Amino acid sequence: MTMASDDTLTDTKEDNSPGGDNPNTGDGLSRHPLFIRLVHWITALIMVWMIGTGLLLGFFGFVGVRDMVGGDVTNLIYKYHKTFGIIILGLVVIRLVTKYTRPRPAELASLPRSQQLIASAVHVMLYLLLIGMPVLGWLGTAAGGFPVEFFQMTLPGLIDKDRDLSQLLFTLHWYGGWAFVVLIGMHAGAGLFHRFIKRDGVFRRISLP
Ligand code: HEM
Repeated sequence: MTMASDDTLTDTKEDNSPGGDNPNTGDGLSRHPLFIRLVHWITALIMVWMIGTGLLLGFFGFVGVRDMVGGDVTNLIYKYHKTFGIIILGLVVIRLVTKYTRPRPAELASLPRSQQLIASAVHVMLYLLLIGMPVLGWLGTAAGGFPVEFFQMTLPGLIDKDRDLSQLLFTLHWYGGWAFVVLIGMHAGAGLFHRFIKRDGVFRRISLP
């Protein structure tokens, strides 16, 4: 099957079949709905903040960051690391509900099976981390006896204070952060490869314009 050019892409507005295959795609590629494309890029933007602040806090710790930027800014970094992490959790729930309740664009039959399998495996692992990392952060924060901040609110910690548990949860949080770096690198690298090298329209399935 030949690859589609960008011009052959169609929107999924017409995609009303329960299986999600767009009957109008021909051998072109259908796009994700605008709502999903928006959620994808908002998630990507927030993830830059999450990984950036996460690695900063992980490498330097509270005292190290405070010595660099002062106590007030450090507290803001913690607060908005927690807040946007919880937003990530909300976005992934919205995304999964939409994924399984709304028509989906046709699968990428034009890609080799091996690439489809690798892409699917990366997507599943990204979803697991998008859920797991906020949960680990939330519970690790609560177990450490710290507030689970969401903007000006403090959400319920859900578990009792337990320093050892907190340490374990944040160790997992740290490894999860690095797993994220690797998987996001693969995911973004593949997207850019399709966009700039193969120019086969795959990137247009998820791009905003
Ligand atoms: C996608 C979501 C998230 C990502 C990618 C992420 C990433 C990271 C990374 C890489 C670290 C450094 C490792 C560490 O010190 O444990 C970190 C630290 C931290 N994260 Fe997250 N995080 C996320 C969500 C959350 C949430 C939802 C909370 C709390 C509600 C949270 C609370 C914290 C705290 C308090 C630290 C500092 C731990 C310490 O200083 O020992 N994180 N995060």
